[in-house]
Amino acid sequence: MKKLIQALQKAERVAVLTGAGISAESGIPTFRDAQTGLWEKFKPEELANVRALLKNPVLVQAWYAWRKQICLEKAPNAGHFALANLEKQIVAKGGSFTLITQNVDRLHQRAGSENVLELHGNILRNYCIDCGKDADDETLASTESGEPARCVHCNGLIRPDVVWFGEMLPEKTLHEAQVAAASADVFLSIGTSAVVYPAADLPLIARRYGKYAVEINVEESAIAEYMSEVILGKAGEILPKLCNVPL
Ligand code: OAD
Repeated sequence: MKKLIQALQKAERVAVLTGAGISAESGIPTFRDAQTGLWEKFKPEELANVRALLKNPVLVQAWYAWRKQICLEKAPNAGHFALANLEKQIVAKGGSFTLITQNVDRLHQRAGSENVLELHGNILRNYCIDCGKDADDETLASTESGEPARCVHCNGLIRPDVVWFGEMLPEKTLHEAQVAAASADVFLSIGTSAVVYPAADLPLIARRYGKYAVEINVEESAIAEYMSEVILGKAGEILPKLCNVPL
């Protein structure tokens, strides 16, 4: 921790990758944690791809409407607020701060983070799979009627604006994330199992460029052995300690 604080005090460029673990303390389920992870209870192949939407639109839309509701009901936790605070401190001293998130829950933005790159989209937004137009936020509520939500312009099926299995990440966003990782003096990888690529490659890019990369997680991730340092513990408890000292 001391070494990380010293590195942050000297850093001009900071990049952070977050995963579902940072929102766990807000009460949003992760994907792979035993017992509580979403992929322990639900099958991604039945919910998180276009084929699933075409085959069973009501089920897929209802599942995303349920997850969206959870995200709206939950609030950012001390970990989210600490990262927003860290950004302010780094920017105030003339540095750059990039928060790259795999999360679709918007809790970082609600905590006040500004320079956020959403690698896997945003569950609050929906769009039509045929014409691509934004769909009204309330549209998915209509799945309660048993009919799939459809586009008011072309009658196409509505989907959430999240990256599904088999889909490309938004190209520009991924490129910006890779540049931030390669050029950061300090890179933090927080609350991610680091098994989903290309997101999981970002901490490794930082290491390949000889940067100081630290993992913060309740247990070691798949790439922990390649990190400069691993701090074991809850993000909501560790991160506020980083902001308690002047940077
Ligand atoms: P996972 O569910 O795979 O991993 C969550 C990680 O958070 C695990 O390594 C936990 O040990 C850790 N964790 C849990 N509670 C924590 C806490 N309080 N503090 C710190 N760490 C904690 O979630 P992701 O790595 O985000 O993709 O999953 C990556 C992608 O897989 C997701 O973005 C999603 C999923 O399929 C898409 O939806 C495209």
